[in-house]
Amino acid sequence: MSSPKSALPPSLPAGDAPRPGGAKRHLLRVLGWTVAVIAAGCVAFVAYAAIYPERMPLAIGAIVEDFTGANPQPIVLHVPPSQPLSAVALLGKQIFNDPSLSASGKQSCASCHSPDHAYGPPNDLSVQLGGPHMTDAGYRPPPSLAYLYRQAPFSIGPDQNDMDAAPVTLDQLATAASGTQRAAKTAGVAPAAPALVPQGGLFWDGRASTLQDQAIGPMLNPVEMANKSTDEVVHKLLNAKYLDQFKQLFGDRIMQQPDLLVDEAMFAVGRYEFEDPSFHRFTSKYDYWLQGKARLTQAELHGLRLFNDPDKANCAGCHLSKPTADHLPPLFTDTQYEALGVPRNRDLPVNKDPKFYDMGVCGPFRTDAASLTQYCGMFLTPTLRNVATRHAFFHNGVYHDLKQVMDFYNLRNTSPEKIYPLDAAGKPQKYDDLPEKYHANIDVADAPFDRKLGDKPAMNDDEVKDIIAFMNTLTDGYKP
Ligand code: HEC
Ligand code: HEC
Repeated sequence: MSSPKSALPPSLPAGDAPRPGGAKRHLLRVLGWTVAVIAAGCVAFVAYAAIYPERMPLAIGAIVEDFTGANPQPIVLHVPPSQPLSAVALLGKQIFNDPSLSASGKQSCASCHSPDHAYGPPNDLSVQLGGPHMTDAGYRPPPSLAYLYRQAPFSIGPDQNDMDAAPVTLDQLATAASGTQRAAKTAGVAPAAPALVPQGGLFWDGRASTLQDQAIGPMLNPVEMANKSTDEVVHKLLNAKYLDQFKQLFGDRIMQQPDLLVDEAMFAVGRYEFEDPSFHRFTSKYDYWLQGKARLTQAELHGLRLFNDPDKANCAGCHLSKPTADHLPPLFTDTQYEALGVPRNRDLPVNKDPKFYDMGVCGPFRTDAASLTQYCGMFLTPTLRNVATRHAFFHNGVYHDLKQVMDFYNLRNTSPEKIYPLDAAGKPQKYDDLPEKYHANIDVADAPFDRKLGDKPAMNDDEVKDIIAFMNTLTDGYKP
């Protein structure tokens, strides 16, 4: 006789009647299904979030960002409109690319500010060669000319609006600013006190205020295009192949007005740099990410967060990374001047003289702020857009790759012996590119420079790599 047990459906436990365990199993099964349904819902939700991260509520934005690398709050960036160049800018383009305007006949603006290198230097030299025979070394690396379209004129102190009201000297401005506390540079936080430090202007020391003012500088600089006088520039312009364009734009009389001819030529170069979209492309991966059209890798995303973290790298304290309130894209500079105390570049010919110091705002290349010694050692915070395409970093070109730059930020205070040369007694010669009496100007307040000797560095090796990965997203020409 077969056992009654065998007649029971196999899924039920053996026995005469369903035991209490049966109810439990049933419950488990229901629970199982519920979990499955929720899980399916989650998968669908995550998939939806991955496709439309911008539709997610803010609270889960960070989770979505982690998961997908997409920006949970994309915005529309206000970039300069792309319009055909004006006739003046077209003339400026020819001047910019014309080597016949240099003493050597071999150098144009584009030689040092190469369009193929984000208008920065085309090689890895610390400084470029120029002069009548292309054998004279410059003093500083050429900055990128990209993204200067929003650069304000040079000024000092909190009350920039007074600049137009009455002509004031830099001394007056500095005196007015002297009561103000230097604003702390904390990533993501608006400074509580108005900045005391100088801001705006062109060149590493801010000595030119507008692109037009600036352009005559390299034409006359003995180690650059090396014309001996403005007359020489005039002579070359009068022989330029685009002279007819000058006449069409400014009338034949321009030929008899040499000062005006030079002024208009420099104005044209300035217009070209301002108008041509190639100077402000905004086509980096980060720009697309800001607009929700590209995703960052985990390393890039982590790098961005460290870059913005006020206690860690704090890079965004000075290299602003967020769009402005009116949706202008970030330029990765606050356009202010800081003394970071980068090591002396002993390879620069100008530094062969041990008494020579390039002190930025207070001279010697700039002369109008020589008495303002509180600004000795300060240089303009450069944009980090396209920084990964450069091969010479800081105002003296002392570093040649981004890892070296990161080590400087990370180890300057904690292990100065790894950054500066050692003296005879084996002690690191900290801040060896600035006379000792000005060492107090150097920033020791803002992270990562707030660490002390022997402290743990602000960033570990992986974090350094991730920040570099993020800086690589700032290179124009990304295809989303
Ligand atoms: C021999 C290389 C060389 C040539 C040629 C040259 N420059 Fe420069 N340029 C530099 C250097 C070096 C600097 C930084 C100088 C300084 O800070 O004192 C610079 C700075 C600039 C700046 C300021 C950028 C900033 O971020 O502040 C502008 C604008 C500029 N150059 C435009 C031009 C124009 C226009 C021409 C042609 C008329 C030109 N340059 C020719 C090397 C060169
Ligand atoms: C307190 C302001 C400040 C902070 C914070 C700061 N920087 Fe800078 N940065 C500057 C200034 C000023 C310079 C130019 C200094 C010089 O040449 O003497 C500079 C230069 C650079 C350069 C060289 C660019 C070039 O074209 O030569 C790089 C790269 C750079 N910073 C990256 C970073 C990174 C990454 C961080 C965060 C770890 C950071 N910065 C934090 C102010 C700052």
